[in-house]
Amino acid sequence: RKPVTVPGLHAMKAEGRRITVLTAYDYSLAAQLELAGIDVALVGDSLGMVVQGHKSTLPVTLDHMVYHTQAVARGLSATLLVADLPFMADRDLPHVLQAGARLVGEAGAAMVKIEGAAPHILDAISALVARAIPVCAHLGLTPQSVHKFGGFRIQGREQETADRIFAEAQAVQAAGADLLVLEGVPTALGERVTKALDIPVIGIGAGPHCDGQVLVIHDMLGITPGKRPKFSKDFLAGRDSVAAAIAAYAADVRSGAFPAPEHCFN
Ligand code: KIV
Ligand code: NA
Repeated sequence: RKPVTVPGLHAMKAEGRRITVLTAYDYSLAAQLELAGIDVALVGDSLGMVVQGHKSTLPVTLDHMVYHTQAVARGLSATLLVADLPFMADRDLPHVLQAGARLVGEAGAAMVKIEGAAPHILDAISALVARAIPVCAHLGLTPQSVHKFGGFRIQGREQETADRIFAEAQAVQAAGADLLVLEGVPTALGERVTKALDIPVIGIGAGPHCDGQVLVIHDMLGITPGKRPKFSKDFLAGRDSVAAAIAAYAADVRSGAFPAPEHCFN
């Protein structure tokens, strides 16, 4: 398998080939993503919830992100590695650049992900990209803003918020982002953003029209405690191995079978 690259992801969008993304936090599951031919492994700060057991992603530190990114990197060869900038890594430009340097230079990520589109985030995106660190933006239900939202709530249901998220998507692209994760928005907004942008849009709870999909691996293996989020699916149910579940996810994302209407918001 040829290594997945940032230009390669752009080519996939241009050719209409859907991009498969899953989170990973350790060596062994990263190796499973690699074997299944998953395009992108995301070391998400969701590890604060599914690995560490916190109620949000806010307690995750840069040291935690570096530790997990290093472990995941050892399991990958062709799969592209993206790592989240943790809460408050965007406090100022020196901290953002230091975080990017550690996640890419020290830990082996090829790209970092940052939430939001506030002016200082747009500056951070440009500053990272200027230093040859590709950036994945993240809009919609951005979990680091859980206290601002008053919970993990779908964003963009009202026309005004939808228009704001649409404008933010164009702003992060203009700032130099090479990829966008769009989370927890109505299907129509997912479609509108995906059609308007040149960069690939990876959806999670953003409908079937995105250029690719991402899920938290614990969710898609059915091992996250508590209720399964509506936008997720247990791909291990009825299958006999983790490898088969990941392969089924990849096939269903590529064919467009996932997400189905029951995983989407209207
Ligand atoms: O932290 C994470 O896992 C994420 C994805 C859900 C997009 O940011
Ligand atoms: Na995240």
